[in-house]
Amino acid sequence: MTKAIYPGSFDPVTKGHLDIIIRASKIMDHVTVSVLENPRKVATFGIEERVEMLELVTKPYSNVEVDYYKGLLIDYAQNNNVKIIIKGLRAMSDFEFEFQMALVNQKLNPAIETLFMMTNNKYSYLSSSIVKEIAGLGGDISSLVPPEVYDIIIRKYQ
Ligand code: PNS
Repeated sequence: MTKAIYPGSFDPVTKGHLDIIIRASKIMDHVTVSVLENPRKVATFGIEERVEMLELVTKPYSNVEVDYYKGLLIDYAQNNNVKIIIKGLRAMSDFEFEFQMALVNQKLNPAIETLFMMTNNKYSYLSSSIVKEIAGLGGDISSLVPPEVYDIIIRKYQ
């Protein structure tokens, strides 16, 4: 059984994340979408809120599960006996940092592989930060986030 973890801060989940989740669920037997803390970012949404949003958008996909973990990604993968980490790549600007993280994780545990999936072209500009900036300034985010989480995000900025 091919099991993978798709980790991220998902602060909040976007249509770009969901596209990767759906595509990963088609090539893996099981995908765990896991909310992890990014020490480089201060989160806007709490872990419970991020998990709730991911659960809403992944409901139709029976081989997708949502979880969270406070700690190192590589420890989380090892504890759950998962050998594949999936990461999305949007642009060359993502590459340098993702490459570094993949190499560090490989150093920490060479048995765990990082697989990169290219973004769907139509979401290459999209990020959680962009969604939050637009929402915070009263713009329309309806085409950027899955409809199930639109109200939850908007409520945060009212
Ligand atoms: O969606 P993001 O913010 O790009 O996700 C980054 C994330 C959460 C996957 C990354 O920061 C992470 O793996 N955090 C857990 C802590 C960890 O393992 N750090 C070492 C990676 S080199």
